[in-house]
Amino acid sequence: MLVIGLVASAIGIAVGLLISWFPVAGSTQAKHVDMVWYVLIVASVPLFVIVEVVVFYCVIVFRVRPGEEHLEGPPIHGNTRLEIMWTAAPAALLAGLCIYAFIALTHLEKSASNALPVRVVAEQFAFTFYYPNGKGGEFASNQLYLPTNRAVKFSVQSKDVIHDFWAPVFRVKIDAVPGITTHLHVTTTDKVGHYDVTCNELCGVGHSTMRAALHIVTPAAFDKWMHQQIAPKPSGPPGAPNAATLFTTTAQPTPCATCHTLKAVGATGTIGPDLDQGLKGKSKAFIRQCITNPNSVVPPGYQPNIMPQNFAQTLSPAELDALVNFLEKVTNK
Ligand code: CUA
Repeated sequence: MLVIGLVASAIGIAVGLLISWFPVAGSTQAKHVDMVWYVLIVASVPLFVIVEVVVFYCVIVFRVRPGEEHLEGPPIHGNTRLEIMWTAAPAALLAGLCIYAFIALTHLEKSASNALPVRVVAEQFAFTFYYPNGKGGEFASNQLYLPTNRAVKFSVQSKDVIHDFWAPVFRVKIDAVPGITTHLHVTTTDKVGHYDVTCNELCGVGHSTMRAALHIVTPAAFDKWMHQQIAPKPSGPPGAPNAATLFTTTAQPTPCATCHTLKAVGATGTIGPDLDQGLKGKSKAFIRQCITNPNSVVPPGYQPNIMPQNFAQTLSPAELDALVNFLEKVTNK
């Protein structure tokens, strides 16, 4: 049993450590989380193997043989020394793992001075990120841009139900709870790349679509992006936005075609109302209200809060105008 157990444990631990479990480590916190996982593998694989080896050994060696069906086994009474051992050993192991996990947690929750403050507002079903604009205010972005090797302090809020702000490359996550602000400390690594932010709390029909793009970029690229966001945006033509493209692919947080049917662009979504019917004969003002304040115009049979409430912030005035004009035209033929 001992030899089988040792060999099987060694194989199990080797396999457990060789498997590539995690995406890239996009935060310095990631190494603490990953290490907890590896320590748990090393601690738990031998326990599992020992239990299984003893079970299989007993099933084979102490099985009932033909003619023994009516025999009783020997009466067994308690063994105090064994009982103390099998209580104390797991208790010591669990206490050790708890202390280790607690130490890891204090590393994860450490805040850094001069961290970049980013306010994260979650709502059904979108994230909006607010950055300081250098003039005492904030600007909004529906994508999360962060520079490499930078401490970031996220202040997380929710407009409606409980969501959860999570980027798998950070490993750490925090709930967005209505009525309070929660905080998450992350220090990015040098892993430049494009990753995902996802909602990690079941929050309604659109939970699975509640994602945002995370871009970890060089500090120079980040500064450039910040300047572009703060600079006043030109509105209207030249280069008027393409409403059909907005509708099918580029509108943030979710392109309209994901949920709505509109024959003019071949959209067949069924989560929201069919726009060919719903907008027929409606005014531009009504169409604009549908986009910017959808809860005020929920038709019978549909629930409020399914459609993102932040298109007024994520679409530029020119984009909004283009969409309204386009929808009015194609639904009123
Ligand atoms: Cu928000 Cu799930």
